[in-house]
Amino acid sequence: MSLSHIAKTISASPTLKLNEKAAILREKGDPVIHLGGGEPKSKVPMDAIIAIAAHLNTAEIRYAPADGIPALKKAIIRYTEEFYNRKVNVENVIASGGAKQAIMVALQAILNPQEEVLYPAPYWVSYPEMAKLCGAIGVPVYAEDGTFYPRIKDIEMKVGPYTRAVIINSPNNPSGAMYSEEFYSDIVDFCERRELWLIMDDIYHRLLFDGKKPINCYNYAKDLTENSKLIVINGVSKQYAMTGFRIGWAVGNKKVIEAMANIQGHQTSGPSVLLQKAAVGALNGIQSSVESLRVTLENNRNVMMDLLKSFDGVNVTKPDGTFYCFADFSNYEKKSNKLSEFLIDKVLVLTVPGGEFGLEGYLRLSYCGTIKEIQEGIERMKWALDPNSPNELYIGDRKLVRDWS
Ligand SMILES: Cc1ncc(COP(=O)(O)O)c(C=O)c1O
Repeated sequence: MSLSHIAKTISASPTLKLNEKAAILREKGDPVIHLGGGEPKSKVPMDAIIAIAAHLNTAEIRYAPADGIPALKKAIIRYTEEFYNRKVNVENVIASGGAKQAIMVALQAILNPQEEVLYPAPYWVSYPEMAKLCGAIGVPVYAEDGTFYPRIKDIEMKVGPYTRAVIINSPNNPSGAMYSEEFYSDIVDFCERRELWLIMDDIYHRLLFDGKKPINCYNYAKDLTENSKLIVINGVSKQYAMTGFRIGWAVGNKKVIEAMANIQGHQTSGPSVLLQKAAVGALNGIQSSVESLRVTLENNRNVMMDLLKSFDGVNVTKPDGTFYCFADFSNYEKKSNKLSEFLIDKVLVLTVPGGEFGLEGYLRLSYCGTIKEIQEGIERMKWALDPNSPNELYIGDRKLVRDWS
């Protein structure tokens, strides 16, 4: 079939594919444990529900400005002031269909075909595909010391004549690593000096553990004028458990935001007004749900770290935030895809192969589910991988028998 070059190079989102797989298995009645998920299980804040319901009840659900309704822009401006200590104007803000679309239209606004965008590895699965959608090239940067914490030297070494942008996601999906203040300072300074766009994907910035506080990239910027090439991305999906609402945003200079709005206007005409109203409700409403989610996730992280210690061959760096950890299972199997398939086939545990995030031998394990799911999921994995495990395992009344060594 004559599909476009771009269509032929873009692969399905592995995490969305896994969600589908989990749903199909569950429908069949299989007791699947989903450790591959990317969304909190807590309820959407009531203020969001009230706001969307009120607008729905008007029975007048119309087109809205393509770059976001004024009330949402106002809430984003207030958010930026509160969490970034930075005053911006409506022209500096765009609301999009999730942080995903905000990043996508940002890349479309700044990248030409063949140009390069750099991002530290392991990286979020969508960055390489988004670069391809622009006809551009995504370049992963691996820390020379083998950690999840890149240094400016690592980035510098990959910058070439085609480099136009850098994406930083901290705390990071999939590793949970939060980069140091020194790195923030270095990368902001480096991008300013080299006139590179710097996209800060801050979607997890308030989901931090061990008393860590979000790092504010603007503190390190020398240029805070309309020439600044710093674009900050955020959204309601993760911190407010509103993944299904698809509302995210970007803050940047007026020109880039205008270009993004033009692109978005022709792509989707902007996010639904209903969902924007819900986001306004969440952003302006009672904030306690964010902290209670954070506390739950920190506790879940601790449980998962303790359980992973019981494996002989697993190495894992304790996450600083998010709801993921990225564990090295290469002592069991070097091909992460194969290992992930094995775990779903044998013990009905879903994990995301590290290869999707640019690092083979690893699995991304989520701890956004319940403690029971985490415990049972890791126990099943241990049973499947440990050669000294007993021959049989019961999942409810279903008996699994090892037919592998
Ligand atoms: C690093 C990162 N950025 C952006 C997004 C997209 O978030 P949204 O649901 O708001 O589109 C995700 C979602 O998984 C993510 O992990």
